[in-house]
Amino acid sequence: MDVPEMMKAQVFYEPEQMTLEEKAVPEIGPEQVLVKVHATGICGSDVAYYFGKSSVGTDSGKGPLVLGHELSGIVAKVGDIAAEKGGFAVGDPVVVNPVQSDVDSPWTQKGLSNVDLGTVVGVSVDGGFAEYCASHWYWTVKVPQDMNLDIAASAEPLACGLYAVKNLNIEAGQFVTIFGPGPIGIMMVQMAKVYGAGKVLLVGTRDERLDVGKELGADLIANTRDPESPNYVEDLGQFIQDNNDGELSDRTILATSNLGAIKSGVDTAGKASTVVIFGLPGDDDVHSVSGIECMLKDMTIRYSWLAPDTWPEAVDLLHSGKVRVEPIQSYSFALEELGDSLRKVKDREGNAIKPLMKN
Ligand SMILES: NC(=O)c1ccc[n+]([C@@H]2O[C@H](COP(=O)([O-])OP(=O)(O)OC[C@H]3O[C@@H](n4cnc5c(N)ncnc54)[C@H](OP(=O)(O)O)[C@@H]3O)[C@@H](O)[C@H]2O)c1
Repeated sequence: MDVPEMMKAQVFYEPEQMTLEEKAVPEIGPEQVLVKVHATGICGSDVAYYFGKSSVGTDSGKGPLVLGHELSGIVAKVGDIAAEKGGFAVGDPVVVNPVQSDVDSPWTQKGLSNVDLGTVVGVSVDGGFAEYCASHWYWTVKVPQDMNLDIAASAEPLACGLYAVKNLNIEAGQFVTIFGPGPIGIMMVQMAKVYGAGKVLLVGTRDERLDVGKELGADLIANTRDPESPNYVEDLGQFIQDNNDGELSDRTILATSNLGAIKSGVDTAGKASTVVIFGLPGDDDVHSVSGIECMLKDMTIRYSWLAPDTWPEAVDLLHSGKVRVEPIQSYSFALEELGDSLRKVKDREGNAIKPLMKN
């Protein structure tokens, strides 16, 4: 594949300052591959960086940095070690696991690279809102030749959501409640079904997002914010008991960082339940729960961080169509239009859930 010397990239400098630039195509080291970016999804953290709600992971906490960590593409160049150890070749369709921890770290070797973060593509080094992106071979995942690369671009959020669903330990037929109808919560609805859930309830604050969750398999939806909504539920615990033979929720995931949702999630989880907290807490967030309430329910509460070992399965869920992301991907846009799409996601304009930048 012919690789040009220069490429287009959106370079973020500081909040709301990002420019489309001609930039040198990344040089790769022997352990890296160069990926010709096909598509890159917008994550909530890209929005947070762009609007200054959170600092990027560079030493200065600022740019210049190419954002974007949810990407698919085609291998355009291969380092010697990447070819030898990873068997990579030019033309391979791939997705990039952006969390590129030290391969030799004891945590990585134990399958827990998520607790020993190193380089993160699109967060601490240049990412996917560009025409090319470099990636360590160990963290680059080959996808089937016939895989639709638009769909593959959602592998990263799906892999994180899958780890959380696995951490729920769903038993067949159980009632599962998912708070937060964002892209990941809606993917979790589908994965909970794959993992044997009986009824799945999706709880949120906007009907347009809840409706997408329903289209993709939620048995029940509840809007807890808008009394005018036909899906409005005032007493969520009662609603769950009415739909679960008098019991509260068996398994609950918080796919939102909203503190009220976390309290409600714990309050509406039942006997011998498991609650997984997935929404990313703010620096000052404190999660308080009633100890006696959790104790008497013999409840398990756990956190779920990133996707240490779920990538191949996530790719398979997408490739097989067991998890559908087209209705979540909302629309596609060109690299030039990134700033506008980041704003649309922030403002929830046009029900922009997970728009896709396509080169
Ligand atoms: N743990 C991990 O490994 C990991 C990885 C990736 C992302 N995350 C985090 O996981 C969360 C979900 O990601 P996402 O991309 O799907 O986020 P998202 O697009 O922000 O979706 C969150 C959804 O939750 C809704 N929400 C807000 N308050 C709620 C409440 N009280 N009850 C129910 N729903 C409520 C939001 O509604 P509005 O539209 O009204 O705001 C929004 O629709 C985020 O916090 C993200 O930072 C965690």
